[in-house]
Amino acid sequence: MFIHPARCFVRSLTTKHSFLLAPQQILPRHYQATRLFVGALEETKESTASTTESKSIPRVTLKRNRQTKAFRDGTQLVFSKSIDKTPKKLQSGDLVAVDVPVSNDANNTQTTVVGVGVYNPDSMYRVRILCHTFLNADLKLESMDPEIALSTILKLQFDKALETRRTIGLPSSDTDTFRLFNGEGDGLSGLAVDIVGGNTAVIMSSAAWCQLHQSSILKSLQEVLPEMDLVWKTTPSRLRQDGYEEPEESDEVPEEENEEPVIVTENALCDGKKVLDLCCYHGGFSLNAVKNNAVHVTGVDSSKDAIDTYTENAKLNGFEDRIDFVRSDISTFMKSCNEKYDVIVLDPPKLAPSMSTLNKASRKYKSLNKDALELMSNDGGIFMTCTCSSAMTQKDGGNFFLQTIQQASLSARREITLLRVSGAAPCHTQSPASFPAGNYLTAALFYVKPKSGTD
Ligand SMILES: C[S@@+](CC[C@H](N)C(=O)[O-])C[C@H]1O[C@@H](n2cnc3c(N)ncnc32)[C@H](O)[C@@H]1O
Repeated sequence: MFIHPARCFVRSLTTKHSFLLAPQQILPRHYQATRLFVGALEETKESTASTTESKSIPRVTLKRNRQTKAFRDGTQLVFSKSIDKTPKKLQSGDLVAVDVPVSNDANNTQTTVVGVGVYNPDSMYRVRILCHTFLNADLKLESMDPEIALSTILKLQFDKALETRRTIGLPSSDTDTFRLFNGEGDGLSGLAVDIVGGNTAVIMSSAAWCQLHQSSILKSLQEVLPEMDLVWKTTPSRLRQDGYEEPEESDEVPEEENEEPVIVTENALCDGKKVLDLCCYHGGFSLNAVKNNAVHVTGVDSSKDAIDTYTENAKLNGFEDRIDFVRSDISTFMKSCNEKYDVIVLDPPKLAPSMSTLNKASRKYKSLNKDALELMSNDGGIFMTCTCSSAMTQKDGGNFFLQTIQQASLSARREITLLRVSGAAPCHTQSPASFPAGNYLTAALFYVKPKSGTD
């Protein structure tokens, strides 16, 4: 199981680190890939979406059912089973107005447009609503030319996201790297943007509509961030789920290889401690631990790419003498490890991708956490354990994960006290009513008490 590295990297900038200072990190290699020239891109072939031909926004009508109210209240994702009527000849990426019954009363046949979104006949998300009309009624989006409507929506949502980050103090003297745009949390499902190193905006596309409207997205973003270099990244597995196959080799987009690493400043955690960073990825936790005077950190990850960047990051900061790494499966490592640690971080990939896998995954979380706690110093220490499975994070209002850790601690015969539960940083905005799965990350910080008596 593997999480897209970009996500892992971004997650390394979350409040999980907010109790540390700021070492420098080299930008992960996949962020260094491609810079785009928006001007040049305009000359290239535009999207295959038919919005450029059509002059008014067609309507998709939803069924009257238990979900109707949720759409009136702002739900963003429309599944095919919710759709009653669709105009003919709609293509993937076309802008549509979403019309829903105003009441659950079958005698009331009135409908109202709740939002404007993008249609995709090949995805389980038949329409992703990009802008709700009840909050933006003055725009009169549904009567606009589709192309203008899309640019208006993009600009509106990018402006709002920027304002949200400014309000929470981003960028700050502590960090020039943060999430500017967080998919559904900011109103555009399938699109995320990270600001990296203060001068690069990395756009992450995981929906067909983003690919089809790439140049509009880039143009609108460049208007909002005129000084930034824009880098376009995709998540191929999620694009495939959305019915979009990336061309083998795209020669339509002018590219420039960026050989120069981008250096970012990051928040950072530990003092006089021996630290174990399990699933260390590029070393967000490890670097911060050393920066905060850890005596030694060991990072463990099964990915070669992750370990390569981890090593580069250690060098970049001059931390080689206090950091080492092991490329290994963490279960194998933990079972054969004879060392004990004062601080242990456990941040495994998403082990429960859905509710149906939760029981099996919770057994795995329990055994990983038990093994990790068995490596804790007999004098006690700090244990930070994470889950990035929304099924785990959300079950029983978050208590299920904490109970799983509690059970693991009993099996490891270690007494633990919960210090703090946190999630993603505020720049990873969420939209609980319309996209509950956005609440996926839990980082639980425990104090592990000294081992008592004989074992
Ligand atoms: C959630 S990310 C870790 C993010 C990292 N702690 C950070 O904040 O940047 C999960 C990491 O686990 C690694 N991984 C996945 N399965 C693993 C396994 N069985 N053993 C060791 N590492 C694994 C992946 O390579 C990935 O780097």
